[in-house]
Amino acid sequence: MSEPELIVRFTAEDAARELRADVRAGLTEDPKWLSPKWFYDAEGSELFERITELPEYYQTRAEQQILQRTAMDIAELTGAGTLVELGSGSSEKTRLLLDALRKHGTLRRFVPLDVSGSALRAAVDAIALDYPELQVRGVVDDFTSGLAALDAGTDRLVAFLGGTIGNLLPAERADFFASIRAALQPGEWLLLGTDLVKDPDRLVRAYDDASGVTAEFNRNVLRVLNRELRADFAPEQFRHVALWNAEQEWIEMRLRAERPMRVELADLALTAEFAEGEEIRTEISAKFRRERVRDELATAGFELRHWWLDDAGDFALSLAVAR
Ligand code: SAH
Ligand code: AVI
Repeated sequence: MSEPELIVRFTAEDAARELRADVRAGLTEDPKWLSPKWFYDAEGSELFERITELPEYYQTRAEQQILQRTAMDIAELTGAGTLVELGSGSSEKTRLLLDALRKHGTLRRFVPLDVSGSALRAAVDAIALDYPELQVRGVVDDFTSGLAALDAGTDRLVAFLGGTIGNLLPAERADFFASIRAALQPGEWLLLGTDLVKDPDRLVRAYDDASGVTAEFNRNVLRVLNRELRADFAPEQFRHVALWNAEQEWIEMRLRAERPMRVELADLALTAEFAEGEEIRTEISAKFRRERVRDELATAGFELRHWWLDDAGDFALSLAVAR
């Protein structure tokens, strides 16, 4: 087995600098907001893994079902030698792609990229152990700030699974697709997982589960701020809120102050005042229709070639080629 590499492009200093700038911007605007990128410390990454097992959170199982059925087709269609995975997390579902590409005989290299160093280290070690012939190169980076990690190649498949594309705002999404396209040669591939528009009650339940795991995931961002910025949020005094925005076709997660509060963020020399009931938007999770995926990919220079659904029609996997 060759030792897996782990390259840190987004260092602790980069993260600290960006967190400060982000939090200052988000908590001084009205309405207040925080970027979902800060959910994923070690605790947040573990909470996300627990979310994927909740009965209400169908996305992970749906995408797994699609991958089980299509991975071999994807291997044959793309003939990829390098699989790059953005926002890779545990890379559990990705094993289906690795297995198919290995069986197809083209795969040499796996490049998972994630902002969470702890999740990435665990994933890289586990994959390297189970795929001893594979070159594994983990990259700790922010996928929204350029994609230098996608070093030169001509037979790359970039996978962006889990519906994480939905966590970007529309303008960020357009920049992000454009940056992937800019990093690829014509003929290289993008595999994209998107959650689909459906019954709002089901969607809200998926983001407000009965056992409260998503609520803890949401409040975890306040624990991150307490630790990293010497803030004094009382996370349990914030109520988890998930609602469907029908106009934008996205779920919003918010944290609602249960009483008036004054929060000190010592490292920012900032005081954030909360009125009773005031909310911080912590995440959007956009839901898609086929036309929107096709059009946004086309704008970025990709042609949608395949659109696969799970049995229930809840989730889609798109395979697009760089034009
Ligand atoms: N792809 C996995 C994990 C999805 S959870 C799956 O389908 O289950 C979202 C992942 O994206 C987390 O691992 C999180 O750390 C990562 N992430 C979130 N924002 C990111 C950013 N800006 N840059 C890089 N990774 C990010
Ligand atoms: C990572 N991302 C696709 C998840 C989602 O569904 O938007 C994050 C999440 N938020 C709440 N539950 C899961």
